[in-house]
Amino acid sequence: MKVLVTGGTGYIGSHTIIDLIENGYEVVCADNGINSDTSSLAAIKKITGVDVPYFHVDLCDLNASETIFIAHPDIIGIIHFAALKSVGESVEKPLLYFRNNLESLINILDLSIKYGTKAFIFSSSCTVYGDVERSPVDENTPWQEAASPYGRTKQIGEQIVTDSLKNTDVKSILLRYFNPAGAHPTALLGESPINPPQNLVPIITETAIGKRSKMTVFGNDYPTRDGSCVRDYIHVCDLARAHTLSLKYILEEKQKQQNEIFNVGIGNGLSVLEVITAFESLTGQKLNYDIGDRRPGDVMSIYSNHNKATEKLGWIPEMDVADIMNTAWAWEMKRTGK
Ligand code: WQD
Repeated sequence: MKVLVTGGTGYIGSHTIIDLIENGYEVVCADNGINSDTSSLAAIKKITGVDVPYFHVDLCDLNASETIFIAHPDIIGIIHFAALKSVGESVEKPLLYFRNNLESLINILDLSIKYGTKAFIFSSSCTVYGDVERSPVDENTPWQEAASPYGRTKQIGEQIVTDSLKNTDVKSILLRYFNPAGAHPTALLGESPINPPQNLVPIITETAIGKRSKMTVFGNDYPTRDGSCVRDYIHVCDLARAHTLSLKYILEEKQKQQNEIFNVGIGNGLSVLEVITAFESLTGQKLNYDIGDRRPGDVMSIYSNHNKATEKLGWIPEMDVADIMNTAWAWEMKRTGK
């Protein structure tokens, strides 16, 4: 069965392609290369032996996007990752985020309906919950005001998916990721954005290896146990498997509803300072960091209740924070040649 992965050269997309191939799916990859390159496809080839067909297209261009389906009219499922995803950048450039993330989504949905795919998996985010009063959050937790334009594109995106597929034969699953981190255990693939990373874990490893002289903890005056923000860090390989299980859930006709929503997080929260301490104790690398101002768009604390994904998809996260730190550090050393 053939699956289109959009944003497939990116961090989560490339790890998901590996999991799909290892579970017997045939994969086609589409990406516009705005924040990743085809080195991830070379890594996928090394790990799986498969040359994944690649379309270098901007999904905001409907005609260009349709060439994928003309070449592969037997695409039965779509996993849609392609989007800009930096919380901080979205605060600075809201219209770039609205145009890119929503126009590309509308085009791929249009083609999904036109070409009769059966399954549409949407890369959503815990940012749809906004600045929640308390955690863990489950899928029925009411949304607060989005804390950033990035979060807003995910809120609107979920509604566009649900409304546009309602009266079609395409079933959808919205996966609300918490904080993806870590790298493939082979150290052949990991987070390698073209633009400088904004996320905590790659900034930690870049600081530890000397690419950055120091890093900043964005605020330690939040009402949390140590004053720094709390997040739910989920290993990218566990997150990848949630996509394969979601696809299976629809294609094996286990999903009765038109649309289902699942949280994908490890189910507990770690503060920024606790993540830093974990990295230092696991790798023996001392980190040079200082405490700075809060970052606009940040929420104080959020972590998941993922019981629904476990009960319905059979998804159980296998990797913990030690696996995240060890694989992220091994990847950083490998890509830096150390
Ligand atoms: C985590 C914490 C920062 C860098 C992520 C993804 C987003 C979405 C939601 C999936 C925050 C702090 C960071 C630094 C720091 N994921 N931090 N110093 O903002 O939770 O968003 O999850 O859709 O795509 O980006 O993740 O890693 O940027 O920040 O103190 O140098 O680390 O303030 O509290 P975030 P993050």
